[in-house]
Amino acid sequence: TILILDFGSQYSHLITRRCRELNVYAELMPCTQKIKDLSFKPKGVILSGSPYSVYDKDAPHVDPEVFELGVPVLGICYGLQEMAWNMKGKVAKCEHREYGFAQVQISKIGGESKGADALLEGLGDELQVWMSHGDQLSELPPDFHVIGRTSTAPYAAIAHNSKPFYGIQFHPEVTHSKRGKEGIRTSPIHQINYKRTLQEEFIGKEIARIRDICGPKGRVIGAVSGGVDSSVAAKLMHEAIGDRFHAIMVDNGVLRLNEAQQVHEMLNKDLGVNLTVVDASDLFLSRLEGVEDPEQKRKIIGNTFINVFEAEAAKIEAAAEAEEAKGGEAKGKIEWLLQGTLYPDVIESISFKGPSATIKTHHNVGGLLKDMKLKLIEPLRELFKDEVRALGRLLNIPDHLVQRHPFPGPGLAIRILGPVTRDQVKILQQADNIYIEEIRKAGLYNQISQAFAVLLPVKAVGVMGDARTYEQVIALRAVQSEDFMTADWFVFPAEVLRRISSRITNEVKGINRVTYDISSKPPATVEWL
Ligand code: XMP
Repeated sequence: TILILDFGSQYSHLITRRCRELNVYAELMPCTQKIKDLSFKPKGVILSGSPYSVYDKDAPHVDPEVFELGVPVLGICYGLQEMAWNMKGKVAKCEHREYGFAQVQISKIGGESKGADALLEGLGDELQVWMSHGDQLSELPPDFHVIGRTSTAPYAAIAHNSKPFYGIQFHPEVTHSKRGKEGIRTSPIHQINYKRTLQEEFIGKEIARIRDICGPKGRVIGAVSGGVDSSVAAKLMHEAIGDRFHAIMVDNGVLRLNEAQQVHEMLNKDLGVNLTVVDASDLFLSRLEGVEDPEQKRKIIGNTFINVFEAEAAKIEAAAEAEEAKGGEAKGKIEWLLQGTLYPDVIESISFKGPSATIKTHHNVGGLLKDMKLKLIEPLRELFKDEVRALGRLLNIPDHLVQRHPFPGPGLAIRILGPVTRDQVKILQQADNIYIEEIRKAGLYNQISQAFAVLLPVKAVGVMGDARTYEQVIALRAVQSEDFMTADWFVFPAEVLRRISSRITNEVKGINRVTYDISSKPPATVEWL
């Protein structure tokens, strides 16, 4: 494991991201982390950037033990300055602050290159990098040499003469940085010759951790939605504790066509996960009756979900108690609630104002906890989405599920722009199903980040046979996006759109017109509500 110490840079999580992309297992921890308190011995350490100056009164500082571990240490931006400051170098405000692209001249200047130990070895003479700093090194610490410089930063990259300590003023972790990954590749990670893949290390470690947390009898309950995250989390729990994990899928009446049934077959029949599907569609749809406001729809679905989930959990508990009363095996209480929280949800920011760093956590169904008094178990909290997908494949979850587009918790209710009724749900389910089927047939599904149909609450005139029709309109949406914070609409081949449109208007009763949404996010959002 590579330990990344976070000094509060907005890019810290990206360092983790880049390491993971190289199949190197990395963990981000607050910079206040004491080395003696670590539960593992890192194979390398990366010090992140920071909004602080090393000389600020309240500037965060690294535990100097980091430099005694005998492993490579890479300082990025503030990390470089912090390393140099620790080793008696000097840091000062820059005359010319650098933001944006810069050219780093590699090593040869002054003939200081130390050959194989040089961090930037093999990257040519010049590297285009991304800079963002107001301070820089003004004097090298003893025993360090320069391995790269820019026109304004004479110490843009430095290395220790004999120990594996490196500092770079630029940010190889940002995607603007051309060949940034290579900058990281040649860093400590490269040197430790890390062989095992993230997933191998992760699965073993996580299963052991889950078993340890739950003990020999502990029971866990969790919701599955049919999405990647909850399915992978559920399968991992099943691998760890078998039937002591109980999954619940709530059919809220606004799922995709045949979804509850498909999830049941896949998770329960194929993968062996202990799963109960609860059909609560009547309850959800009756509570949604006449509601048009999107936030109101979200709230109703969220709250109803909690009611149904809790009632189901209570039933499972009661059944176990009844069995025990009849002389069956004592099962123990359900103590844990599984959540498919991912890494980007966990780290919003790390604060080190005070000795204990706080990490803000978001919970999709956090409301469950208050009343249920369950403890949280979040096996995916250290992973990014693509890692969850890779993990899913290793756990034998079929590819079509692993690659599945995200689907929002409030489901089709936020894709039916008017009031939600069974009839409207049915129309949208059929149209959406044709749309996705045709996208898959055209081999485009994996090129698109998210695709879905939207049912508009307006009617338009059409003609079928010799008769005039007056029916509803379907809007199609397909976007490409890295993180769904921004998104662009997908350019379909015309014949694919033609086929989709023709099938929807022919096969779905109640629709006589199909439009394609060509809005990017921003200014639009991905969903229509
Ligand atoms: P927007 O519409 O905000 O969507 O651009 C970005 C991503 O978030 C999903 N989304 C939701 N997911 N509950 C969810 O679980 C919600 O209320 C919700 N609203 C939007 C959306 O599908 C897209 O992937």
